[in-house]
Amino acid sequence: MAKDKSSAFRARLLSVAGNSLTLEVLDGKVSSADELLFCSSSQTRKVLSLREYDGHILAEVSSAVEVQIGEIVAGATQRPECVDQIEAEILWLSAQDMLPGRSYSLVCAGQLVDATVTKLKYKVEEASAKHIAANSIAHGETFIGNLSLSRKIVFDPISTGLKTSQFELRNGDTEVLAKGEIRHSLRRASNVYWQTLAIDKAARSKLKHQTPKMIWLTGLSASGKSTIANIVEKKLLVMGRHAYLLDGDNVRHGLNKDLGFTAADRVENIRRIAETSKLMLDAGLIVITSFISPFRDERRMARSLFEEGEFIEVHIDASLAVCEERDPKGLYKKVRQGALSNFTGFDSPYDIPENPEIKIDTEAICAEDAAARIIDYLKE
Ligand code: ADX
Repeated sequence: MAKDKSSAFRARLLSVAGNSLTLEVLDGKVSSADELLFCSSSQTRKVLSLREYDGHILAEVSSAVEVQIGEIVAGATQRPECVDQIEAEILWLSAQDMLPGRSYSLVCAGQLVDATVTKLKYKVEEASAKHIAANSIAHGETFIGNLSLSRKIVFDPISTGLKTSQFELRNGDTEVLAKGEIRHSLRRASNVYWQTLAIDKAARSKLKHQTPKMIWLTGLSASGKSTIANIVEKKLLVMGRHAYLLDGDNVRHGLNKDLGFTAADRVENIRRIAETSKLMLDAGLIVITSFISPFRDERRMARSLFEEGEFIEVHIDASLAVCEERDPKGLYKKVRQGALSNFTGFDSPYDIPENPEIKIDTEAICAEDAAARIIDYLKE
């Protein structure tokens, strides 16, 4: 790790042709006596010649390199870190709250990865610098949190003063949501490895003579999700298919009994369900989930965990007025009496699915027909 800013050299590889490189210098100065380290691929090359051109450095190195454009290049004796778990200090700039568990894009020295705050440690009160416990972060607040990244990035901790310690969180790769600094890597990142197992999803599903699928039902409370999901599971059983239904109310009695209905808790609810379902698909099952899953971002995150064609989003649609009229659990009545807050459709939003694989209008067709439509889709 580079100990102080003056001694470390950090650059980004802009282009490469054989043994000629173009580098964008981020920090420090490269000298012709240096050996260059290509940080992601861990290759090293001696510098043969250097010249400046158009604000960049053109370097000839001892032999051709096979590296990715954008790779971080450092002096071989000043190796930066490379992990996918970090602790960071973050200033939140977006008008929309930061929610742990939600997926954001992280950009650090040109490297773009997906990032999730896995633990919100505390926020820092501006006036007193006091540490305050929090479940979400609002515009203008600074917090310390652990982040999990979709792949390793090359970086330096903030104590080095290098630009490779700074990052932005973005929405996609455009709108800037936050600015952050990496404090350090998390030790667990370098001690946990992916274990390759001998038996895989293909082998398990072959045993069951079925193709694993994720049938993701989304819709307002009382739209008909659980009723339809139940019938789908029964029909699959009759067809000799091994399915499993994860239902919102039931899962909230066990795995998710610590979660309520704030936006932060709903994000975590869906994250756990998506990960649980992924394990079940890996076991070869057809999984049906029945959760309001009101936020588009988390439904997109759930989809991203599965293979192409595996995830079937089903919008169980009924107007809020009709759901309120049905009110099987008397919850809408409680909302009207002011006895229930954060209720979907009232003081908590529902993002209508833009492109679901299936859309079912439960004001127009009965639950039995709705289930039949889902089964027909699976058969296709
Ligand atoms: S989600 O938004 O996090 O996906 P989930 O599907 O698990 O919600 O749970 C929704 C169920 O919890 C509803 O069907 C309803 O029975 C019950 N519930 C209790 N309080 C609320 C609330 N504030 N908003 C929505 N549903 C609630």
